[in-house]
Amino acid sequence: MSTKGAWQVLPDADALAAEAARRFVISCGEAVARAGRFTVALSGGSTPRALFGLLAASPYRDQVDWSRVHVAWGDERCVPPNHKESNYLLAREQLLDRVGIPATQVHRIPAELPDREAAARAYEATLRALFGNDVTPEGFPRFDLVHLGVGIEGHTASLFPGNAALFERSRLVVASYVEQVGAFRITVTLPVLNSARAVLFMAAGADKAAILREVREHGPESGQLPAAMVRPVAGQLIWLVDRAAAAHLELP
Ligand code: 6PG
Repeated sequence: MSTKGAWQVLPDADALAAEAARRFVISCGEAVARAGRFTVALSGGSTPRALFGLLAASPYRDQVDWSRVHVAWGDERCVPPNHKESNYLLAREQLLDRVGIPATQVHRIPAELPDREAAARAYEATLRALFGNDVTPEGFPRFDLVHLGVGIEGHTASLFPGNAALFERSRLVVASYVEQVGAFRITVTLPVLNSARAVLFMAAGADKAAILREVREHGPESGQLPAAMVRPVAGQLIWLVDRAAAAHLELP
């Protein structure tokens, strides 16, 4: 696996969602066989909507043992869980309410709390309780799978260029005011992302073509391009992109 990860170009967004669903089923089956459960951090934004719809219906729904799945999030907007901007709401409505996953296995970020730091600490405690000793030597949780998207300026989860959260190396979860969106966000930190057994990026659409070229050209040392800094230390890195988003890429 090259340090840049494995890049797969799909014809369009629907094909990308189907490939992500196929991989989700495989990752889940492997994790359940290995450890009796599957821990996945969902991404926010709009790209996952099509994936959620596929996973919530046959055949993919029936290929996942949802009683063994633990769902968490890489980040959340600081809004109530029933707000249209909530990453949790999108996943709940499009997926979780339709697959019978036990409520105790849905680990929501309490981002609606007025005290953002308390929200970050609460989610950090949730992750520590969920993962127990399934952590790296440094104490970071080892998600079986982390789904991520990428913003047109290179952010991923809610790690944005120039934002202090991007450089946090001790905490699992931080709250930060994000200038680029003019709002507070709660996000897992880069060490959490880089401790995953597998990270799968999904990027579709022509508006992502420029940033994807940047991501491929920059190394993690650039320190300014969050999506390029995601390099799982002992895990797979997979980029699923559609043809429109891959327009400026020269893939081998
Ligand atoms: C969020 C996401 C964010 C998202 C990117 C891409 O809370 O918005 O976690 O990192 O993945 O902004 O979003 P799209 O899928 O809408 O392009």
